[in-house]
Amino acid sequence: MSLPDPRNLYEELHEEALHAASAAAIDRQHARGKLTARERIDILLDPGSFTELDMFTRHRATAFGVDAQRPWGDGVVTGHGTIDGRRVYVFAQDFTVFGGSLGEVFAEKIVKVMDLAMKMGCPVIGLNDSGGARIQEGVVALAGYADIFYRNVQASGVVPQISVVMGPCAGGAVYSPAITDFIFMVREHSHMFITGPEVIKTVTGETVTMEELGGADSHASKSGVCHFATDDERECLELVRDLFSFIPQNNLETAPFVPTADPPDRIVEELRTIIPDAPTKPYDMVHIIELVLDDEDFLEVAPQYAPNIVVGFGRLNGHSVGVVGNQPKALAGVLDIDASVKAARFIRFCDAFNIPLVTFVDVPGFLPGTSQEYGGIIRHGAKLLYAYAEATVPKITLITRKAYGGAYDVMSSKHIGADFNAAWPTAEVAVMGPDGAVNIVFKRELQRVEEEGGDPAARRAELIEEYKAHFANPYVAAERGYVDAVIPPEETRSWLIQSLEASLAKRERPVPRKHGNIPL
Ligand code: HXC
Repeated sequence: MSLPDPRNLYEELHEEALHAASAAAIDRQHARGKLTARERIDILLDPGSFTELDMFTRHRATAFGVDAQRPWGDGVVTGHGTIDGRRVYVFAQDFTVFGGSLGEVFAEKIVKVMDLAMKMGCPVIGLNDSGGARIQEGVVALAGYADIFYRNVQASGVVPQISVVMGPCAGGAVYSPAITDFIFMVREHSHMFITGPEVIKTVTGETVTMEELGGADSHASKSGVCHFATDDERECLELVRDLFSFIPQNNLETAPFVPTADPPDRIVEELRTIIPDAPTKPYDMVHIIELVLDDEDFLEVAPQYAPNIVVGFGRLNGHSVGVVGNQPKALAGVLDIDASVKAARFIRFCDAFNIPLVTFVDVPGFLPGTSQEYGGIIRHGAKLLYAYAEATVPKITLITRKAYGGAYDVMSSKHIGADFNAAWPTAEVAVMGPDGAVNIVFKRELQRVEEEGGDPAARRAELIEEYKAHFANPYVAAERGYVDAVIPPEETRSWLIQSLEASLAKRERPVPRKHGNIPL
């Protein structure tokens, strides 16, 4: 008997591995508007850059007759490739093989790329589309998940980790994406939940659809789990590539420098009059942020969640920066639980990966109310304070209008470590706004005026004007050096770039400790 020609065998097996799924399973996937694992990788990575690993792995399980089916690759495609020429490690769960369910070998493949990524200092991108733990493999599948969770935690703050959820991701399986830095989801395709609609119906009697419960919009606007929600898979994968241009390969590098033709001293005339005359009238902080960034290019992160705070990435004279801004057009830019947590996590990402922070402040304070107090605004607000104070990256702050009370301290004030602070002439740095202050400080005087038959409203108006003249300006803070400069708004881009470039070589080494104890 003659042995098969090894070249023919390779070709045969390679073909089989490339087409591990049945044609029917692929048709079903396409009929739902979903792509296969390999199609997704092709869009995500630079053309021709993907190098596959472990194409010929197969599961070793036997229970429930699963050994009758041993597809090459075991339902997950892994390897490395490039995005704009920069190396990334990738795994793509393949729903067309065993429903993308995770067993021992499947997990070993993911663990291998995660270990390699950490060793080589490269980001990891996971494309998730899975029916969860492979039922036939029992506890071995659960062990596989835990092996991945463990590595997610070890890699946190060492290499960027991105999760793209493009199908089901349920039960404990959600905790791998949850630990990663950013989660992308696709409307109608992606569903993340701990327990699905049927279990919820049985346990609580609530009726909810998959999309309402765990769809992209729910997680982008209600839970804050999803940072980027898109309409289709191609748009989603292209957005992942976009994000990559702003972030470094690992915690020892800086983000790519992207030269720009946008002049660093560009005067932005529109900023001269952008703050409305009425102190409570809203304006759009995103517009201000865009106007000062290179080429007006701003990638907002989690725009639907806690819109009273804006976070995202941009560049100043080619350098990547993480931007945080209060948003006066949503809840007057107040800090609440969700805004505090959203910004704190973003700040910690930027700090872990050497991305300088630029903060735009217009904050009336913390949101009052029992739901905020009972919900723990004390400990959640503390997260934001903690994140700013522990961040050692360059920190630059601009106060555009209000900076009141504790929120003034929290929003990257000089006192908690900002390197350069400036205020526009319209800034009001004070314990509180004029109305509240006059009501408290002059309560007795206003009562007296009323008792004596005077005009308390007129006296109140006088006192408000006095308060404004004294406190509602940036000069009390400037006199003490709490802001380094009061700047004309139209020169903001230039001031930010000067300040950033003056702090790029910043070295700050905190006292060694195992880790701090952020109020979680
Ligand atoms: C083994 C699975 C599977 C699983 C799906 N398949 N999930 N095989 N283990 N967990 C297989 C199906 O048998 C089927 O195989 C193929 O994948 C496609 O599945 P369908 O059901 O036909 O697809 P669809 O109708 O789209 O439904 C998708 C689904 C459903 C909603 C994900 O398959 C489903 O409910 N699966 C089980 C989900 C689940 O309960 N998983 C365990 C959760 S606990 P054939 O051969 O017929 O094509 C968990 C904990 C994680 O995951 C642990 C972390 C600590």
